Amino acid sequence: MSSKGTTRRLGKTDIEVSSIGLGAMQFSGGRSFTRFYLSAIPTEIEDKVVKVALESGINWIDTAEVYGSGESERAVAHALTAAGISPGDVVIATKWLPIMKSAKSISRSAEKSTRRLEPYPIDLYLVHQPYSRSSVKSQMDAMADLVDSNIIRAVGVSNFSSDKMTRAHEALSDRGISLATNQVRFSLLDRRIESNGILERAKELGVTITAYTPLGMGLLTGKLHSNPELFESMPRFRRTSLRRKLEKSQPLVDLLEDIAVEQKATAAQVALSWATNYHGDIIVAIPGASKTYQAEQNAGAMHVSLSSEQMNSLSTLSRELS
Ligand SMILES: NC(=O)c1ccc[n+]([C@@H]2O[C@H](COP(=O)([O-])OP(=O)(O)OC[C@H]3O[C@@H](n4cnc5c(N)ncnc54)[C@H](OP(=O)(O)O)[C@@H]3O)[C@@H](O)[C@H]2O)c1
Repeated sequence: MSSKGTTRRLGKTDIEVSSIGLGAMQFSGGRSFTRFYLSAIPTEIEDKVVKVALESGINWIDTAEVYGSGESERAVAHALTAAGISPGDVVIATKWLPIMKSAKSISRSAEKSTRRLEPYPIDLYLVHQPYSRSSVKSQMDAMADLVDSNIIRAVGVSNFSSDKMTRAHEALSDRGISLATNQVRFSLLDRRIESNGILERAKELGVTITAYTPLGMGLLTGKLHSNPELFESMPRFRRTSLRRKLEKSQPLVDLLEDIAVEQKATAAQVALSWATNYHGDIIVAIPGASKTYQAEQNAGAMHVSLSSEQMNSLSTLSRELS
């Protein structure tokens, strides 16, 4: 199902993912905290987004127990079933939310996620945030138990600092398992991992970086700059968090659009190609999509090959604007 030449190994695991995956926070059904950022999507559209994403070369989907309080996991399973996808033919990543919880709750959460995702097993299970009541070691031991019981195939973390990621890597190594990924925010609008040690350490450890919000919640597509009405129609928190960056990012969007013309691509595709290739093959990205054209276009970014000059001009401008 994945396009030849565009898959990457997740860390040192045996899991091969397309360099672009599908983020499924958009399928939260307008529930839980996500309603402040994302509107609910009809089930038929969710089903089509997943089908088109897979048909276009994406082979993995990222969800979490917290997205819509389980709604996103259920929607992913529904869409995969509707598309006639067999378990094992798609890679599923989901996450345990550790806030106010100890590592003891990991196995129960995994069981609940497994049930919501049925019949698709969890391939990659991540600790969503670095805020558990338990130590990193206890969390990784609980995750390793799930690998040993064949409930999950690989372990990841998300939003972990360089130091905590290293501790997670060490704790898993003691159990003979390698840390697959650290899922963090990364795009032309947010390059903190390049200076806070995360990227450098991930390279040393052989841990894949999964870039979330790789389109800056839509800013890097240019559509919010060219359509003020669309911007104003977005849920309030998303508007508030993006308003400040809207004007500042205009020169970057202009450059993305110029390069898109040269590449016969879209600004979104250029932004995703930059994010997943500027640092070699250590970064994969999981753009969210709420419409089929977005899933198709984002998958198409895997076939956009930017020249070094185009990559560097984007890099230089994004640094100047930060
Ligand atoms: N681990 C974490 O803490 C964490 C945090 C945040 C997100 N995530 C994951 O990362 C995924 C993506 O992040 P995100 O949703 O925050 O940001 P994003 O991927 O940067 O932006 C997604 C939004 O951009 C718009 N879009 C996407 N592709 C487009 C295209 N080709 N053309 C035009 N517009 C396009 C859509 O907006 P409209 O829907 O308005 O059309 C879509 O909802 C999530 O789904 C989730 O799986 C993880």
